Amino acid sequence: ATIQWFPGHMAKAKREVQEKLKWIDVAFELLDARVPMSSRNPMIDEILGQKPRLVLLNKADMADEAVTEQWIRYFREQGKTAIAIDAQSGTGVRQLAAAAKEMVKDKFAKMRAKGIKNPRPVRALIVGIPNVGKSTLINRLAGRHIAKTGDKPGVTKAQQWIKVGKEMELLDTPGILWPKFEDEDVGYKLAVTGAIKDEILNGQDVAVYALRFLSAHYPERLLSRYDLDDIPADIVALFEAIGRRRGCLTAGGGVDYDKVAEIVLSDIRTEKLGRLSFEAPALRT
Ligand code: G4P
Repeated sequence: ATIQWFPGHMAKAKREVQEKLKWIDVAFELLDARVPMSSRNPMIDEILGQKPRLVLLNKADMADEAVTEQWIRYFREQGKTAIAIDAQSGTGVRQLAAAAKEMVKDKFAKMRAKGIKNPRPVRALIVGIPNVGKSTLINRLAGRHIAKTGDKPGVTKAQQWIKVGKEMELLDTPGILWPKFEDEDVGYKLAVTGAIKDEILNGQDVAVYALRFLSAHYPERLLSRYDLDDIPADIVALFEAIGRRRGCLTAGGGVDYDKVAEIVLSDIRTEKLGRLSFEAPALRT
């Protein structure tokens, strides 16, 4: 869904998430494993405050495994637990209830100390930017299809708890947060990974960004996918080399740059270029 975020919307989204915090024990901060920083809400620390938080690196099936490992270490160094998951197939999802329980064990130990013998299930809320996989994860945890509320702050319905096994309950509506807007690179990374729709940024610009990144970090994938002898340093020459290999030509015999952009972005999003991460803790791109 395409969303228009205005300051008023942002304030409302923040308020809606914060209202839900009082009902839950732990927040699941859902990030895109391929771009964990760019898919992060810039105010998340302020929004969640002291609420225990589990970082979930979703779509890990599409991300570079070695880089995802680096991210997990990075979060651990910051005192946060991060888990790589694939909400679509369910990989990693079974660990969530146990991990959530572990996060709140002190709070529950206190409840028991006060004489509450059978503590209730751990209550969790999924928060994240649009298209990061919140609904997919909710459905996966629920084991059935839960109707999606519109991707708009302010679209409310009665909230319900979804039982996830015996030990966890999940709010059926996620907290929808906005991405970072200030940084141009963030916009490109979100576009490359499909988190923001293609109408928003120019396809050729996004493909230029992607090809520059791939040339620097995954050159061998470009060489083999497009059967190139080398990677031209000049981006126009790279578009032309790919275009000629893939027969993206205009009526006049020139290279159709729009078509090249479309092919490259589609290849990235459908994993034709393999598993890719566009941000690593060690990289400053
Ligand atoms: P949202 O609620 O946070 O807005 O995201 P949603 O669950 O709608 O997921 C957005 C897209 O990401 C969906 O694809 C969904 O299938 C895909 N997705 C979610 N989790 C994963 C994952 O772990 N791995 C992979 N590979 N994809 C994931 P879509 O193209 O919008 O729809 P469709 O392809 O499911 O039809």
